[in-house]
Amino acid sequence: MDKKRVAVLISGRGSNMTALIEAAKTTDYPAEIALVVSNRPDAAGLARARAEGIATQVVDHTKFGADRERFEGALDSALRAHRIDIVCLAGFMRLLTPWFVERWSGRMLNIHPALLPQFKGLHTHRRALEAGVKRHGATVHFVVPEMDAGPIVAQEWVAVREGDTEDTLAARVLEIEHRLYPRALRAVAEGRATLATGKRQDAL
Ligand code: GRF
Repeated sequence: MDKKRVAVLISGRGSNMTALIEAAKTTDYPAEIALVVSNRPDAAGLARARAEGIATQVVDHTKFGADRERFEGALDSALRAHRIDIVCLAGFMRLLTPWFVERWSGRMLNIHPALLPQFKGLHTHRRALEAGVKRHGATVHFVVPEMDAGPIVAQEWVAVREGDTEDTLAARVLEIEHRLYPRALRAVAEGRATLATGKRQDAL
């Protein structure tokens, strides 16, 4: 099988990265995790990736000051040097410019801890509780220049329970994230989900 070469971009803990690494160990999985990139040298996920024998690279955004293009140029070079086919953002806490997004258009995914198009941006669990929604969840979507707005590859939901706090809800959503991302990446790597077949958010 010709496995797609995947880079996972992280900024911290890397539990979704770990879920992708674990899924990719299965022989019939259509993708291999070829590279993990972090914009923060202290991201905990880096050690985990190294322990798995995966190539890692730090592209520290603070070294580039306000020059986003040079930061993204370095990111892009790392991805190309490792012949990456698909990029998975997994808790990567930098907004990407249209230049970078267009370069990886149709080949870059993100996981967002909410049922998009609800609750784009940060603090999704707190906002879901404040809004009193009955269902909350996670979404994997293609990345487009507008934040958290790209076509949806897969979504899963959990019921919001009486007495849920931001932490209990986040923990239950994280559990589904770890199933959802490997499933969505499989669909993209097998060519079953594309930018064109993804669900348009404005049609939901
Ligand atoms: C996850 O909740 C993900 O949905 C969001 O950031 C968090 C990253 O967690 N984008 P981890 O680093 O994968 O553990």
